[in-house]
This record gives sequence, C-alpha cells and structure tokens, in this order.
Amino acid sequence: LALAVLVSGSGSNLQAIIDAIEAGKIDAEIKLVLSNKETAYGIERAKKHGLPTVVINHTAFETREAFDRAMVQEIRSHGADVIVLAGFMRILTPIFIREFFPKIINIHPALLPSFTGAHAQRDAAGYGVRLAGCTVHFVDEIMDSGPVIVQAAVPVNAGDDEDTVGARILEYEHRIYPQALKWLAEGRLTVDGRHVHLAPSEA
Ligand code: GRF
Repeated sequence: LALAVLVSGSGSNLQAIIDAIEAGKIDAEIKLVLSNKETAYGIERAKKHGLPTVVINHTAFETREAFDRAMVQEIRSHGADVIVLAGFMRILTPIFIREFFPKIINIHPALLPSFTGAHAQRDAAGYGVRLAGCTVHFVDEIMDSGPVIVQAAVPVNAGDDEDTVGARILEYEHRIYPQALKWLAEGRLTVDGRHVHLAPSEA
C-alpha cells in the first residue's frame, strides 16, 4: 500500500501505524503525512521517522473544494493512493472522496453509528452509555458513515468522564487501526454494500 496519512493533531494513531509498519507487521509505505495545521504534533512524529510531510493551511483557501484540490495534487505527486484519516479534522468534499474512493479509511472514536461528529468521546460520556469504543471504516461521501471494518468496545465506569473514557478508547484505536491496515494490505477486505468481508488469512 502507498499511504497518505492525514492528521490535524497529536498523531498518536499515525504513530501506531508507523510502529506497525517499522515492525514489519503491515506491508505498506507511508508516502506522505499531510496536515492542515503547521503545529500538528503528527508532523513532528513523521519527521522523526524520516517521512515526507506537507502542511496545507486550509484557511488559505476560499473554499473546501479548493483546499481539497490542493491536497489531491500533493498526495498524487507523492505517489500515494490509499488515504488514511487519522484525526484529520476537516470535512472532505466529494472532489477529494471521488478521487480516492474506495481507498479511504477513517477511525472514529465511537461505536458508529452512535456519536458521529467531532466530540464523540464527550457525547458518549455525557449520554451515560455503558459501552463506548472506536470504529475503523471505509469512507463514503457522508461523514462518519461508510462500511465498518472493525470496532472495539470499552466499558464506561462510574466516575468516568470524557478524558478517562477517551484515553481508554484511544488505547484501542492504536490496536484496531494497524489491524485494519494489515488486512487491507493483505488484500483481505471486500465491500458488499454496507458489509465488509474479511477473507481468511493464507497462513
Ligand atoms: C482520535 O481519537 C481519532 O479517533 C479521532 O481523532 C483523534 C486523533 O488522535 N478521529 P491522534 O491525533 O491520532 O492522537
């Protein structure tokens, strides 16, 4: 796989993916780490591992479409064709999604279809659910929507808040995102409508 990893923040999921690739667990190469924010720590992480980085400041563009076109150009010019959204906090337009569909995956810190949007951990903690979790899914043109590849559930205990639940979820994000990418790299994932089928491993 020739990956472009898109980040806006800490990049701990990016780190988990880098570590899994460096450990030989995923047959993939990160061709580009792209951020819309200069200050994203994910960019530092990428540089520490010698990975190509690009920052495209979305505020410099008049429209989401213009920003998306600029991203497409950078991603293509780095030779990536699989998009890994890892805490990328911009809504993508059809211009971007149609360019790379169906090879775009995302991680969301909730058990979809519950708690879509940018504050999933806070919303789950506030709702009082007893199970929270995270979801890796293929991306379609609706935010936090496409076919689910893998989910992990974590308990929510008395006294938990957004931060404690969020930290527990994040631990599992770091497990299931590399796992999903490994399956993708092995060519084991097929999509049939809403359903993702995982073929048995050859080993
Ligand atoms: C994660 O919780 C991810 O699910 C969400 O944004 C957060 C990014 O964390 N989409 P990090 O930048 O990977 O540390």
